[in-house]
Amino acid sequence: MTTPVSGPRSLKNAVDNENSANSRKKWTNLMPFFIALVVIAEITFLGRLDMAKNAALVNSWADSWLHQSSPVVPLLSSGDDAVSDARNDDGDCESWLVEEDVVIYSRDFDKDPVFVAGGEQEWNTCSVGCKFGQDPGRKSDAAFGWPQGHGTASVLRSMESAQYYAENNIENARRKGYDVIMTTSLSSDVPVGYFSWAEYDIMAPVQPKTESALAAAFISNCGARNFRLQALEGLEKSGMKIDSYGGCHRNRDGRVDKVETLKRYRFSLAFENSNEEDYVTEKFFQSLVAGTIPIVVGAPNIQDFAPCPGSVLHIKELEDIDTVAKTMKYLAKNPDAYNQSLRWKYDGPHDSFKALVDMAAVHSSCRLCIHLATRIREDEEKSPGFKKRPCKCSRGLETTYHVYVRERGRFKMESIFLRSSNLTMEALESAVLNKFSQLSHVPIWKPERPESIRGGDELKIYRIYPVGMTQRRALYTFKFKEESDFRSHIENNPCSKFEVIFV
Ligand SMILES: *[C@@H]1O[C@H](CO)[C@@H](O)[C@H](O)[C@H]1NC(C)=O
Ligand SMILES: *[C@@H]1O[C@H](CO)[C@@H](O)[C@H](O)[C@H]1NC(C)=O
Repeated sequence: MTTPVSGPRSLKNAVDNENSANSRKKWTNLMPFFIALVVIAEITFLGRLDMAKNAALVNSWADSWLHQSSPVVPLLSSGDDAVSDARNDDGDCESWLVEEDVVIYSRDFDKDPVFVAGGEQEWNTCSVGCKFGQDPGRKSDAAFGWPQGHGTASVLRSMESAQYYAENNIENARRKGYDVIMTTSLSSDVPVGYFSWAEYDIMAPVQPKTESALAAAFISNCGARNFRLQALEGLEKSGMKIDSYGGCHRNRDGRVDKVETLKRYRFSLAFENSNEEDYVTEKFFQSLVAGTIPIVVGAPNIQDFAPCPGSVLHIKELEDIDTVAKTMKYLAKNPDAYNQSLRWKYDGPHDSFKALVDMAAVHSSCRLCIHLATRIREDEEKSPGFKKRPCKCSRGLETTYHVYVRERGRFKMESIFLRSSNLTMEALESAVLNKFSQLSHVPIWKPERPESIRGGDELKIYRIYPVGMTQRRALYTFKFKEESDFRSHIENNPCSKFEVIFV
C-alpha cells in the first residue's frame, strides 16, 4: 500500500490484488451459463425477427464460443420456450414491442472488443469483449493516466486513500478531467475494493482463542493521518494487554503468519492509516478470515462492511476508546456473548455483506469494460434512429412498458414487460424473478462464494436499481420512495434499464 497513484503500476497492483489467475479460472467455469444466456437471448430475439443473415452470423459467433467449452445446455428448446412464453394471452403487445424496440448497434463488442490501453490482458471470460494492451494501430476506448482527449476515456485507477493521494478524491479527479474513476470509494465509477471471496477465506472456521493477550496488532508504523497511534496507546492505558507484531509499539516477534496468528486472539486491531469512507483494507478482511473481532479505526462507515450487526467494534473518535475497551473486556469474560458476535461464521453473513463482496466476483478490469461498453451504447442510443423506439404499447386502457434488466457484473440485458395497471416495484421484482428463473440464470457469484454460503438454486433479489447508479447508492441508500416515483421513472425513461443484484 505504498505505490503511487495512477498509471500501469497501480493497475498492476490492483490486478495482482484481485488474484487474476484465480478469477480467470473461475470465470471459465461460469462460461457455459453465460453462453446459454446469451445464446437463448439471441435466438429468441432473432427468431422473431426472422433475419436469416444475422441469425447465421450469431450462430457462427455462438459456435465459436461453444468450441471453446462444451456446455451441456438444451439451447433450442429453451429458446422455443422463451418465444412461446412471450406470446401467451396478452403477448401481442409484448411481441410487437420486441420487434419494434429492436436496436442494431453499430459496434459488435464480440468482434470489436472494448480496448483499454495499458496492462496486457485479454479478458476472455468477461461478459463483454474486453482487451487490455498496447496496439499503436488501434484507437483505444480508454487509457490509464492523464486525460489525453481524442475520444479516449482517461481512467484513474488506484487503491490508495485520497487522504494520502489527493488526486483520488472523486471531485478532484473529475476536475482534472478523468472520465472513469476506479478507487476504493463505492461512489467511484468502477470501485476497486480490497474485498473478494477469492482473496480471503472468509468462512474459515473459528479456532480456539489460546492467547492471554486480548488483542493482536499488526501496525507497520505509528505514523498515520488519523488517531490510530493514540487509539493504540489509549487501549494500552486502559490496562488491556495487546500483542503488537508490527513496527508500531512492537512487543512480539513480527516474523509470523499474520492470519494464523490472529486466529488465536479474541480481537484484532484493524487500524487503517486514514479514516475515509469505503477505505477498508486487508487489515479488516484478514481479521474476518481469522475469526477474530476487528476493532476498527478507519472508514467512518465501517459498519457497512460488517458481516452482521455486532460483529465489528468501531473507534469512531478518541472519546470512544473507553467504551470500546469496556466492551472488549466484557466480551472476553462472557464466552456466549463473544460467540454471538461471531455467529455469522456459523450461520453465514448478512445479505448486505454478500452483496458487497459479490461485486468482486467480476474482476474490476472486466467491470471497467462493461462500464465503457454501456456508455458507448448509451451514446449511440441518443441518436435519432434510436429515439424512434416505442418502448411501450397500448391496448385499450392498458399500456405495456418495455424495460431492460441485467445482472450486476454482466453486460447483456433481458427484456421485461410491465403493465400500467400494475406498475410497481413488486411487479418488477416478480417479473425479473420469472424471467431469470425461466432462463435458468445462475448468479455470477455462484462459483466464487464459499460453498457453505452459496445457497440453493432459487434466485433471491437483493436490489434492483437504474443502470448507471453508483454502488454506494445502489447498495446502501437508493430506494424508490413511493410507487408513484417508480411509475414516473418508468414513464419518463423510455426503455428503462435496470441492474439486479441477486443474493
Ligand atoms: C459458538 O456458537 C456456535 C453456533 O451456535 C457453536 O457451534 C459453537 O460451539 C460455539 N462456540 C463456543 C466456543 O461456544
Ligand atoms: C401485480 O403484481 C404483483 C407482483 O407481481 C402480483 O402479485 C399481483 O397479482 C399483480 N396484480 C395485478 C392486478 O395484476
